[in-house]
Amino acid sequence: MHYRRLGKTNFEVSEIGFGAWGIGGNQWLGGSDRNSLAALHRAIESGVNFFDTAFAYGEGHSERLVGRTVRESGRQIYIATKVPPKNRIWPARAGTGIEDVFPYEYIVETTEMSLRNLEVETIDLQQLHVWNPEWIGRDEWRRAFEHLRTSGKVRAIGVSINDHQPESAIELIETGLIDTVQVIYNIFDQTPEKTLFPSALQHDVGVIARVPLDEGSLGGRIYENTVFEKGDFREGYFKGGRKKEVVEHIDALMADTGVERDQLAGLALRFCLTHRAVSTVIPGMRSVGSVDANCSVSGLGPLPDQMRAIVRKHAWGRNFYQ
Ligand SMILES: NC(=O)c1ccc[n+]([C@@H]2O[C@H](COP(=O)([O-])OP(=O)(O)OC[C@H]3O[C@@H](n4cnc5c(N)ncnc54)[C@H](OP(=O)(O)O)[C@@H]3O)[C@@H](O)[C@H]2O)c1
Repeated sequence: MHYRRLGKTNFEVSEIGFGAWGIGGNQWLGGSDRNSLAALHRAIESGVNFFDTAFAYGEGHSERLVGRTVRESGRQIYIATKVPPKNRIWPARAGTGIEDVFPYEYIVETTEMSLRNLEVETIDLQQLHVWNPEWIGRDEWRRAFEHLRTSGKVRAIGVSINDHQPESAIELIETGLIDTVQVIYNIFDQTPEKTLFPSALQHDVGVIARVPLDEGSLGGRIYENTVFEKGDFREGYFKGGRKKEVVEHIDALMADTGVERDQLAGLALRFCLTHRAVSTVIPGMRSVGSVDANCSVSGLGPLPDQMRAIVRKHAWGRNFYQ
């Protein structure tokens, strides 16, 4: 496993981090705690030292699994979690005031709940789970983070940017008040390269690349006849004719690159790590097999220019979260 500096946090984090949404179990169905724990342990054995969870992932369930695994490992691991919006609306909506989403007391109290779930004294990275640029001048989030830092409950702070809106965090980065941003970055959504990444590099803000496999499509496991359990988040994400569209885009990507289906995830992760602004890429993994495949990508180095040029042509602008 290779490691990169996570911006001004100075944390040396593994290139492959662990996305822990799926193991929360409430929105991704069909997994089991047994398999999740095996995946978490395997990740640590393979050198993964950065775990991205959130209070909202199973109302603390993902946090408890991550905390337990980290404790059992006895290793020095960086845990990132997130404060859910108080109104429980993802993504943040224009016109919604911060008092409804991240009031001061709420940020502090939710962080304390996460500390209990994780059973740690300090959270390495606490993130706001949504961001609305209209809140830039408000002091609730600034004061709450300041308090959490000075009281030793949190080491670093960041924001998870709304789906497909990388530009919405530029002004925030320029304040110098945050250490990291988490953003959707994958072969289909390459938009963070335009202004977010240059800005993050300029201000030494760490970048966590999320949804690198487009919720599974870039892992090559979504077909036209794929059926998700009722209540699984992917039922909506890949609804209607979307699976057919995905299959067409994936087929075209494989044809152009010559990459076989079982190597697609590797291409997708390597694409993310090719950009030097990215500190860590955090695929969701609920099996040892996924962990092994993904960890093997670290250290391969950037995609050769020719391959990167081909992949760049496969950007696909759309928002399946709506
Ligand atoms: N708003 C936010 O802040 C936000 C939103 C979304 C995600 N996130 C974070 O980003 C992380 C990653 O995103 P995500 O989990 O939603 O989606 P993702 O990483 O794009 O895709 C996860 C899917 O890819 C599959 N997969 C993993 N490795 C694979 C491989 N080698 N080959 C084929 N398929 C593979 C997983 O299967 P298995 O599960 O079966 O292993 C899972 O179905 C999340 O876990 C979470 O930490 C944050």
